[in-house]
Amino acid sequence: MSHRPLLRAAASVAALLLAVSAQAAEKPATVHPKLWPAAKSPIGLDPVIEKRITDMLARMTVEEKVGQVIQPEWKSIKPEEVTQYHIGSIENGGGAVPNGNKHATVKDWVDLIEPYYQASVAPGQKVTIPLIWASDAVHGHNNVYGATLFPHNIGLGAAHDPDLLKRIGEATAAEVRSTGMDWSFAPTIAVARDDRWGRTYESYSEDPAITRQYAAAMVSGIQGAGATFLDDHHVIATAKHFLGDGSTDGGRDQGNSTVSEADLARLHGAAYADAINAGTQSVMASYNSWHGTKMHGNKALLTDVLKGRMGFDGFIMGDWLAHAQIPGCSNSDCAPAFNAGLDIFNAPQDWKPLYANLVREVKDGTIPKARLDDAVRRILRVKFRLKVFDQPSPANRPETFKPIGTPEHRAIAREAVAKSLVLLKNNGVLPLKAGARVLIAGDGADNIAMQSGGWTLSWQGADNTNADFPGATSIYEGLKAQIEASGGQALYSPDGTGPQKPDVAIVIFGETPYAEFMGDQSDVALHHDNSESLELIKKLKAQGIPVVAVMMSGRPLYVNPQINAADAFVAAWLPGSEGEGVADVLTGKRDFSGKLSFSWPKRPDQTPLNVGDKDYAPQFAYGFGLSYAAPAETPQLPEVADTTKYGEKNVYLSKGTFWNGYKLTLSDNAQHRMDYVGSQATLYGTAALTVSPETDGAVKAVWNGKARAALEVGADAPSDIAREANGAMMIALSIRVNATPSAEVRLGVGSASVPVTGWLKNASTSYATLAVPLSCFKAQNLAATPTVARIETAGALDISVSDIRLTETRPGASCPAE
Ligand code: BGC
Ligand code: BGC
Repeated sequence: MSHRPLLRAAASVAALLLAVSAQAAEKPATVHPKLWPAAKSPIGLDPVIEKRITDMLARMTVEEKVGQVIQPEWKSIKPEEVTQYHIGSIENGGGAVPNGNKHATVKDWVDLIEPYYQASVAPGQKVTIPLIWASDAVHGHNNVYGATLFPHNIGLGAAHDPDLLKRIGEATAAEVRSTGMDWSFAPTIAVARDDRWGRTYESYSEDPAITRQYAAAMVSGIQGAGATFLDDHHVIATAKHFLGDGSTDGGRDQGNSTVSEADLARLHGAAYADAINAGTQSVMASYNSWHGTKMHGNKALLTDVLKGRMGFDGFIMGDWLAHAQIPGCSNSDCAPAFNAGLDIFNAPQDWKPLYANLVREVKDGTIPKARLDDAVRRILRVKFRLKVFDQPSPANRPETFKPIGTPEHRAIAREAVAKSLVLLKNNGVLPLKAGARVLIAGDGADNIAMQSGGWTLSWQGADNTNADFPGATSIYEGLKAQIEASGGQALYSPDGTGPQKPDVAIVIFGETPYAEFMGDQSDVALHHDNSESLELIKKLKAQGIPVVAVMMSGRPLYVNPQINAADAFVAAWLPGSEGEGVADVLTGKRDFSGKLSFSWPKRPDQTPLNVGDKDYAPQFAYGFGLSYAAPAETPQLPEVADTTKYGEKNVYLSKGTFWNGYKLTLSDNAQHRMDYVGSQATLYGTAALTVSPETDGAVKAVWNGKARAALEVGADAPSDIAREANGAMMIALSIRVNATPSAEVRLGVGSASVPVTGWLKNASTSYATLAVPLSCFKAQNLAATPTVARIETAGALDISVSDIRLTETRPGASCPAE
């Protein structure tokens, strides 16, 4: 393995901050509805239903109406509160699994949902409005153990097959129905224009043409159409996130978009017209801003464009506490969002004060009564269309408890995997020859978690193993079965070593799972594997073994060194649970048909890069994809020297590399401060702390116990990790204790801290992860914290720290007691 210098040049954070402060000053652009595509729902208003809604509205109190426009997450509400507050819907966020058990069964899900539903129809209410339940079924019913996991949207984009999308939508809806739910927060119809964005994989394409076709196909699949519209087999779809989530500057999640109105309409808005024309009943508003105005507060776009010009007659769902990001708003108070046209607040936390504030604001006129009636009318309209007033309870519906992860659904997923693969290079080695001895290597080879990416059993999907995926097949397992069936031999060795020389090797590698902002990067390099894949390919090639490289990733990445080193290169995206789909194509059982729906970069800094750009010069153009039928030799591609400068967002230290502007600082109470720059450093003055590099990239820190001193992680500018705290992330440090503490040790974020002495005293002598929820540090303003981690003690202590990052909270994680 090559030596990696400890501290890499850090830049661009300043540029980013400049861009952020510039945005605040910008005036919201005006909107010209005529620039936008007109649309029309195929469902139409039913006068009988509208009359019933009018009657219901006349009988409902303000309180009853407000309950319909608030959606808590189940973790923050008890069933009896549904009756008390007239709650109209509930969600489970990513990984909010029953009893915190990610192996929860279908029955566990139904058992979770049923009491909330029953509370909504409890006798004695003036009007009885059944509750509906929403989940992010974004690549299959991905929060549910044993569900079929389809490729993420980026792979589906490469398949160019709307009919396949419709079938995936149908299969997903059936699995959602099985668990007694009514509603999916999908499809994402973002058009990602800058692949640094952590949600690029949720986007079908950088070009709206594919997204438009897919939006329609997926909505029809999830909801049904015509005679099957919202029947027992279908659920409500949600086109998200409106609008311009894929257009933010720098690809920053929840960031600001400065595109023109014409581009916002043409590139990002067009697919909403298609989703509405296909009958989508829900649209989710986006976190991002447009010219400085948060979408949740943009009346021109939510009301004039979406509900006016595009004729959307369903409801606008909010995103997770996104209303709180509007200036002047908080989790629990945001009349401006509602007045702008939001119909349902996404309120996983703080929904009770939100309820009280909304009731007050309607009563004092801050929110017009007509606006509240409009929102509730839309919600009731969709509930009538879903026939919830006539349906039995979740546990008693005909489709509930039907098997999930069925062979039929898995066959669709396998087909989707095969159709999503894009062959970027094949200098003669593929298809695999029948009877060959094939080495299968790489950390992605037998790794269903990597195949599945984020939004899988947990929000980030980072904590899964193959044991979490019953019925699924890793790429290795799929290959082994087919290679052996053809009379060949499959040798599995993650690091590529083994006693027998193979005829050919397949190296499978790529990105490890992430979701939302956690996947934001400062460039389009492959950070998650830190060049291990390249070294493995080269090592095999040096032994004269032909190599096929298969990369799993949520975006196109600059990997020219890997492409050059290998004889063939396949972009496999995030294929999901059916790894055999890869074997179907590598063995030649079917040909490659996938074509790039995203332009492929030739440098790590070549982003944004989109088809139609002036001076468009990608490595592989939009639409590229080789096949067995149309082979071509790929020449050596240009290589760029250093590609691992900036790393992943919120991974502050990994394998000796610091993230974008982050560094370690030694400090004490006597105002002594010094930055660690990669070589041994002793705090001047008190000399209480000495930090030095270890050969493996870890940092050794020794406190001598003579004075109080701290080791801090931060950047020059304050860090904003408020959103991460809302998302229940933890600060996690991989620590080896070399000598246990002689006095109290505290772990801090900014000025807030918790004791970690007990953990350090009990730690073994190998690396272990010390992780504390960010919510334990709420005493610090997490939107602007000077440090993201601080280890402080006045005693003696000797530790090595190899990794510092934010990770998703594990069930049961709590704050260390004082
Ligand atoms: C995401 C949405 C998702 C919602 C509910 C948000 O953070 O942006 O895509 O539907 O959470 O989980
Ligand atoms: C996500 C949710 C997730 C939550 C974790 C949010 O930002 O959108 O889906 O469950 O964070 O606490």
